[in-house]
Amino acid sequence: MSQIGQRASAFAPASSGNVSVGFDLLGAALLRIDGGELGDRVNVEFAEQDELTNSGEYAHVCPDDAEQNLAWQAYRLFRSKLANDSFPKVKMELVKSLPVGSGLGSSACSVVASLTALNRLFGHYFSDNDMLLMMGEIEAAASGDLHYDNVAPSYFGGLQLMSPSTDEPVLDLPIPDQWYVVVAFPGFAFPTKQAREVLPKQYDKHDVIANAQNLSVFITQLFKGQQVKAAQAIKDVVAEPFRGELIKGFVSARNALVEQGALAVGISGAGPTLFAVTTELAEAKNYEQYLNEHYLQSENGFAHICRIAPQGAKHLD
Ligand code: HSE
Repeated sequence: MSQIGQRASAFAPASSGNVSVGFDLLGAALLRIDGGELGDRVNVEFAEQDELTNSGEYAHVCPDDAEQNLAWQAYRLFRSKLANDSFPKVKMELVKSLPVGSGLGSSACSVVASLTALNRLFGHYFSDNDMLLMMGEIEAAASGDLHYDNVAPSYFGGLQLMSPSTDEPVLDLPIPDQWYVVVAFPGFAFPTKQAREVLPKQYDKHDVIANAQNLSVFITQLFKGQQVKAAQAIKDVVAEPFRGELIKGFVSARNALVEQGALAVGISGAGPTLFAVTTELAEAKNYEQYLNEHYLQSENGFAHICRIAPQGAKHLD
């Protein structure tokens, strides 16, 4: 029976890389509490010809040249890894809803949604580990460095810690389900490549120790179920000191939210999205309002109250 016309669809959630305390090795998937979607969708279908179309609010920022499009690169890589490729060609639609260069794992969303939809269409050909390695490979080419801190949470959900082991490249951390994470995208892009160039090549020994200490305390408190103390351990000595000043409005918004009692405030991924953590919904609403009024700088900006998403990429059919 012909496979032409068979379809699959997937959604991949936005994520916050680093979570401030784990530069390049920690990431959290995000779920809006109001039910709105924060992430990208991809629809795929076996067809006579390969074809990619972009739709959605941010379709206009997708490159005209399909070869430059991460969804297409994901398809190309997926296809190249098939041992016996007797499958038909693929028509693909990227529904691009997340702004690019936002610090919300936008490129990871396109890659994760694409590969998840493709794997379903191709009968779950690849294992989760194979999928993750492919996701990392495409992200590395796009951002200039291999880091799984967006693709892993977007694919698996929750709070993911990257491990140096290729057998077990990511470790699931306990999900701090009492946290509200307020994210605010100011409405302008801060490309990850550029944000990485401002970081020093070497760090002071005291900062290296402080970083290890903060991350260790964070993880220990998570495993002890101390979600407030875990949030209070979120400190960034690696990236924020160098990026914070470059993100217009970040330092004053951070200081104001700390003053208002936020348990943690930081840069989501490479920025410019800011995140703030609280365990009180009323506080989260105050932060959302403050950020709407003081941090957004164009009509493209937005602020949302989120939870850590327990589920990552999902099939939609
Ligand atoms: N961890 C990366 C960075 C961005 O801060 O440069 C998210 O993948």
